[in-house]
This record gives sequence, C-alpha cells and structure tokens, in this order.
Amino acid sequence: AVVHRNNLSQECENLISSLPSEKDFMGKNLYSYQGSWYYPSTLQAILNFQKHFRARDSDIILASFPKSGTTWLKALVFAVVHRNKYAPNLVSHPLLSDNPHNLVRFIELDLYVKNQRPDLEELPSPRLFATHMPFQTLHDSLRDSPCKVVYMCRNIKDVLVSRVYSLGPFDDQVLRYWKESLVNSNPVLFMRYEEMIEKPEVQVMRLADFLGCSFTEEEKQSGTVEKILELCSFGNLSNLETNKTGTSVCGVAPHAFFRRGGVGDWKNHLTHEMARKLDEMVEKKLGDNGEDV
Ligand code: A3P
Repeated sequence: AVVHRNNLSQECENLISSLPSEKDFMGKNLYSYQGSWYYPSTLQAILNFQKHFRARDSDIILASFPKSGTTWLKALVFAVVHRNKYAPNLVSHPLLSDNPHNLVRFIELDLYVKNQRPDLEELPSPRLFATHMPFQTLHDSLRDSPCKVVYMCRNIKDVLVSRVYSLGPFDDQVLRYWKESLVNSNPVLFMRYEEMIEKPEVQVMRLADFLGCSFTEEEKQSGTVEKILELCSFGNLSNLETNKTGTSVCGVAPHAFFRRGGVGDWKNHLTHEMARKLDEMVEKKLGDNGEDV
C-alpha cells in the first residue's frame, strides 16, 4: 500500500477525510471512528489490525477504558495463564523484570502502531493481547473465533481522577462489553476494579475459571492464588526498579501506570456537585442497565 505523510496509508487518509473531527486540548486532530475518538496514527493501527489480524481460538484479549486497571489486569492474566511455566514468586518471574505492558502488548497502541505489520503467527498459544478499542471495533476481527475477552471496568469518577480523559465513549464502551458478557457471542468476562480490590481471591479464581485454567485444590491449599496476588499487587509492582525507572512503554514512562491504586480517590478531588453531575451523566447514558452495570 502507498504510505503517505505521517505514515498513513491512502486508505487511512481517505477514511480520515470522511470522519467527523475535533481538536484535543492541545489542538491536535481527533477523528470519530465507530463511536470513539482517535489520533490518525491510532486509526491507522486499527485499520491494519482490522485488515490483518487473525484470531486464534486460544487468544485472550484484555479490554478496558484507559485508567480502569489495565496494568493490573495484564499482570494478573499473565501470571495466572503462565503459572506452570513461571512459578509466582518474588524472586524470579518475568513480571519482576519487565513492565506488564511489555508482557501483554496493546494492539492499537503498540503492535500495529506506526503502520507496523507484526508477525503474530510466531507467538505461542495462548496469545495475550490488550486493547482500549470498543467492542464493535474489535469484534469483526474475532468473528470466526470463540477466543476470550476479559473486560475491566472501574468507577468513572476514579477513572476521571486517574486521568482526565474524554468521557463520551466510556459509557458506551462499558455498556457494550457488559451486554456482550451476557449474550456470549464471544465469551466476555466483565470484571470490576472495585470488586478486585474488595475480594481479590474470589475474583482471580473467577478469572482463572473463565480462562479455562482453574486453580486446583492443591494450588489453593499451597497458596498459589495469594502468591499471584502478591506478585501483581500495587505495592510490589510499583516498587520494582523496572516500573520506576525502566524505559517508556507506548510513549509513557512506566511509573505513570502506578499512581495510587485503590477505590474512591475521587472524593479527594471532585466536589459533591461534580460527583453528582457525573453520576447523573452515567445514569442517563446507561439507562435501564445502570444498576446492573
Ligand atoms: P490511580 O490513578 O487511581 O492510582 P490503567 O492501568 O488502566 O492505566 O489504570 C491505572 C490505574 O490503575 C491507576 O489508578 C493505577 O494506580 C492503578 N493500578 C496500577 N497497577 C495496579 C495494581 N497492581 N493494583 C491496583 N491498582 C493498580
């Protein structure tokens, strides 16, 4: 394909010229595609993904809105799925020397970015990927495969405080993944950051069940679940040298993925009135599903 300025293909340039656009707070162009706003380079990556990605039945895709606990989910799924290959401990484990974002890479922000065509066929099964794309953008590429999707959701007020981000697609994204988790077109596990904080053991066992690698009684007795939680805990990961001073991932300094962790920091940042307005907006968007989601 012909590649133009900014590494964009003609197809992407054509698409961009037909999409609604807005400026971000720094005056950069954003384009609305399938219900979300993207910079041109991400859009190019998404087009490449949609065109070239071939899902394997054993693939596991971690989906989330930014700042919803993606880093934590990546670490947990990596540790759970590979626990026979890498015993969960605090002495020698890939998570101790590498950022979770290098171990489970983002489709549209990493693998396909800069118009790359990664060779994903080489990767051993099960392949783990992550994305911030909404379900409708992801789904076409998975259509012929029963591969699994885990969606991590977090209270919008904490997401907002974690990083001021465009609110629009949040509700739509959550709602769509929630609905998909009910209908089973692709198996979707809907997880909540707050429940992970509240009952981590229960939630990690639920995650392993869904991924088809349930913890055995022996593993439960010998503390494997607790070891995985400890390995992936905010306290452990945020204090590792690799996550404090290591090289940037997807253009982000590794320490930026670890701020505070936990639930309810919004109370320290949002006024009662701001919180009320946000709740109102979310309620309006989620409509009848609000209480369940
Ligand atoms: P806070 O900014 O509220 O601290 P994402 O990974 O999707 O970018 O989400 C980032 C949020 O998850 C940040 O929230 C970050 O501190 C928190 N986080 C990162 N690693 C975590 C972990 N291991 N356990 C719990 N929370 C974690």
